[in-house]
Amino acid sequence: MKRILVIGGTSAMIRESLRMFAKEGSKIYITGRTENKLTSIADELKVLGADVKEECIDLDLSDEHLNFIKRAAEYLEKIDIAILAHGINIPQAEADSNIESGRKMIQTNFVSYVSLLTLIANQMIEQGSGKIAAIVSVAGDRGRQSNFLYGATKAALDTYLSGLRNKLHKYGIKVISIKPGYVDTPMTASFPHNPLFTSAKEAGELIFKAISVEKDIVYIPWFWRWILTIIKIIPEQIFKRMRL
Ligand SMILES: NC(=O)c1ccc[n+]([C@@H]2O[C@H](COP(=O)([O-])OP(=O)(O)OC[C@H]3O[C@@H](n4cnc5c(N)ncnc54)[C@H](OP(=O)(O)O)[C@@H]3O)[C@@H](O)[C@H]2O)c1
Repeated sequence: MKRILVIGGTSAMIRESLRMFAKEGSKIYITGRTENKLTSIADELKVLGADVKEECIDLDLSDEHLNFIKRAAEYLEKIDIAILAHGINIPQAEADSNIESGRKMIQTNFVSYVSLLTLIANQMIEQGSGKIAAIVSVAGDRGRQSNFLYGATKAALDTYLSGLRNKLHKYGIKVISIKPGYVDTPMTASFPHNPLFTSAKEAGELIFKAISVEKDIVYIPWFWRWILTIIKIIPEQIFKRMRL
């Protein structure tokens, strides 16, 4: 039986992954900010076979993290897998005109992750094992005018995860960076959709597989690795003139 801590458990993208873990009979401590969404997901996971405890928490409140992780570790007894999926995407134009909304995005997408990952890593070192999977984004691979603050929060998280993976390797703890491209979820509901979009269900299945096979860095779906490889080699002299 896998013992799983899910942070940002109301994310549409990981819902299918959670269903798959539930069908395996996992024990799940799931958190979310919106109570009715959280209850509905927890109820579904219970029906599918999981042993579930839910907790409503606003992750921007970093002072609550220590006690929250303690409660989760106590319930699960041991955290085999920690999945971190919460995040917000404030449009760049709004971040440009309202510093406070940009600051909030940095808090949610990066500062809260550092706090939570530090506590989870310490817990896993004490246990002597564990697996951490955090959702980053292809937007963090290169800054673009359309979403560079969002991308910067994900780039910062990506670098943090790389260092954490390097640190935790000697303890046998895996750190998996999950990098989705466009996924059809509430976060992207207002974006013009194009053929590169993946459904939330498919993304969730791929995230489940990525956690099971323990790769270090996974693009969701795989073709984004090659798209980003091309985007990253475009010389800055050309890139700065492009409308991306
Ligand atoms: N969709 C994409 O194309 C895409 C691409 C690459 C990466 N990502 C990343 O994938 C992750 C999941 O996003 P998604 O696409 O599944 O969108 P989503 O369904 O909107 O999920 C975002 C989740 O984050 C939670 N959240 C936001 N702020 C929070 C806070 N302060 N405290 C607690 N929970 C908070 C939201 O909770 P509420 O339900 O309460 O609002 C929601 O469950 C995010 O990290 C996102 O940046 C998404």
